[in-house]
Amino acid sequence: MPHHSPACTPLPSAFFAVLCASAFALPVLAVDYVKDIKPLLKERCVSCHGTVKQKGDLRLDAGALIQPDVHKHLLERIASTDEDERMPPEGKRLNSEQIELLRQWIAAGAPFPKDEVIPKKPSEHWSFQPVQRAPLPASGFTHPIDAFVFGQREPAPQANPHALLRRVHLDLTGLPPTIQEQERFAKSSDLNAVITDLLARPEYGERWARHWLDVVRYADSNGYERDAEKPFVWRYRDYVIESLNLDKPFDRFVIEQLAGDELPDRSVASVIATGFLRLGHWDDEPADPAADRYDQLDDIVSTTGQAFLGITIGCARCHDHKFEPLATRDYYSLVAVFNPLQRPTKGRAELSLPVDGKEVYAWSEPSTKAPETHVLVRGSPTRFGDLVEPAVPAILVKQQPQFPSGEKTTQRRLGLAQWIASTQNPLTARVIVNRIWQQHFGQGLVTTANDFGLMGAVPSQPELLDWLSHWFMHDARWSLKKLHRLILTSRAWQMSKSSESLMRYRRLEVEAIRDSMLAVSGQLNPKRFGPAMKPGIPKAALEANTDKEKVWQPSDEREASRRSIYAFIKRGLVIPMLETLDLADTVSSCPQRQVTTVAPQALSLFNGEFVNQQAQHFATRLRHEAGNDPEKQITLAWKLALCRDPSHDELTKMKAFLQDQPLEQACRVILNLNEFVYPE
Ligand code: HEC
Ligand code: HEC
Repeated sequence: MPHHSPACTPLPSAFFAVLCASAFALPVLAVDYVKDIKPLLKERCVSCHGTVKQKGDLRLDAGALIQPDVHKHLLERIASTDEDERMPPEGKRLNSEQIELLRQWIAAGAPFPKDEVIPKKPSEHWSFQPVQRAPLPASGFTHPIDAFVFGQREPAPQANPHALLRRVHLDLTGLPPTIQEQERFAKSSDLNAVITDLLARPEYGERWARHWLDVVRYADSNGYERDAEKPFVWRYRDYVIESLNLDKPFDRFVIEQLAGDELPDRSVASVIATGFLRLGHWDDEPADPAADRYDQLDDIVSTTGQAFLGITIGCARCHDHKFEPLATRDYYSLVAVFNPLQRPTKGRAELSLPVDGKEVYAWSEPSTKAPETHVLVRGSPTRFGDLVEPAVPAILVKQQPQFPSGEKTTQRRLGLAQWIASTQNPLTARVIVNRIWQQHFGQGLVTTANDFGLMGAVPSQPELLDWLSHWFMHDARWSLKKLHRLILTSRAWQMSKSSESLMRYRRLEVEAIRDSMLAVSGQLNPKRFGPAMKPGIPKAALEANTDKEKVWQPSDEREASRRSIYAFIKRGLVIPMLETLDLADTVSSCPQRQVTTVAPQALSLFNGEFVNQQAQHFATRLRHEAGNDPEKQITLAWKLALCRDPSHDELTKMKAFLQDQPLEQACRVILNLNEFVYPE
């Protein structure tokens, strides 16, 4: 074993001290903690000696935790020839080079960088702690969000009024302001009045429901081979729109979706809400019915974990979660909550559930007697482990919530739902507040909206997130509209995009692009609710689809010109324009839309059938409303599409363009301007 400077301590002279110090730093030892030791410990030791598990009461996931008293044991245990003693107890033994590295590192005094962060114990993880409201930081702002965001700093300037008006319209309703709305705002400049007005419009629910549908994996068909239509599933979509428009408190919204049928004040709407549980993809001809049953339960448990709690419980189906304090027992205790549900079917065909004369898309829970639920060893549907009772993940509670029994159903889901929606739950409010923030700013305070666990991102502004979450539960009483208003009235949200990174340029979602085009061309059909409309599928896409039987008869143009939220989402054949422009994944919960940039997008926007059609209508509208004067046509087009007058330069160029190109072509260009899809 190499000794470092054995003669060092007894020599007092400064000269030798210098020598000693440099000897200490000599690369004789050549072991680098960060490069050599930490990765080794992480790979071979930390799964049992880290934050999730501390076997032998030992942690090896940070240098500061590896105290001198364990050094000797550690070296003995890794080098032991006794199988029962040797570490790691599983897998290959450490090779001699790895053992030597550890030996040298310890001989050097086990140094580690002073700024190494010691991972917290899972029970200390930030998102598992109660939500606490810190006092507002000292600042020059009365708006709480600005106080946190800017503190003593000078904020960026506000965006231009016309940009701000367009921003708030697109943000809250997914549609641009009309000419009349622009004129009204030019006179009043009262943005607060605009916010109040927009939040009261039905278009608000149509815009924001789509964000929720992403989170709950909404689609109109089952996927898999036959991809059959889910009967009456659109009632769930309409329920979400209406709930948002009514500003149903979010805690109630959660409870209805998980257990609306078990509520004492159950209504048709609250049963429709439980359609949430049945939205998943489903194989109507499963090869292995037992496995299929657990797949369906897994869809519910995993989605519930991600959507409401921001936890990746689905990873604990086959083994204890490798990175989070979630055990298979936690997973199967949640399976036990949903296990009493039965899917109404007749053979391969799904049935809907009659409720007070309406037929609705939900599961049924026919009995108060729950089937037994076992832990499945390695997730295998045939290998039964321990029997489990309904429970919530142990790490999240000191005491399990009550799961009382009911008179018609087991009431297990109600027990779970009430715990999720309680003000004591540390996750629910944080998760939804973060989702709302993400939609308004393009990025969440936590960038992993479905994962608030140890592997998720840490919040960029934890005090702000907690302040908002506490305020949302206690002051706003779970009102989403109040939360929107608070955010939209902040300078942080109103500031100009170019100047500060908090407000980023980002592409509108495909629904807002499509709906804006319809609004600008004058074709938007405002019909609300009911069965989905089916836009035409371009021939090229149809030819690629082998089974023509599965393709729908398209709705007529008027019906197909409804807002995109009413478009039929078929898992096996997603409408190409929606697909190329990054519609959410339809199979599992989608925390945030991707924004890819690929060539077919440009083609779809510039030369797609839909866009060409809208360009035609747009031109007709301009001729009708602005007459034949090119300057008037261009000015009107700019106002409708971009909410501003064209600049002198833009006007000159467009006039030149119109000298040898038809107005339709100019309209196509305008619908493709960057500013149209990347609003300021
Ligand atoms: C699969 C789990 C597992 C892995 C991986 C593992 N250990 Fe352990 N370790 C244990 C268990 C269980 C104990 C407690 C029982 C015992 O002492 O054998 C333990 C005990 C120890 C102890 C004794 C603690 C004390 O103070 O008594 C040391 C030292 C140790 N491990 C080091 C390591 C090192 C170093 C690695 C990686 C090279 C490692 N272990 C990997 C499971 C593991
Ligand atoms: C359908 C079953 C199943 C699910 C669900 C599952 N795993 Fe695994 N996983 C396995 C099996 C089998 C192994 C290998 C045996 C073992 O380590 O238990 C494994 C191993 C692992 C390993 C260890 C690899 C290693 O080298 O030790 C990690 C890490 C892991 N899984 C992470 C995850 C995460 C994260 C998720 C959730 C996204 C997940 N698993 C979901 C079955 C599953």
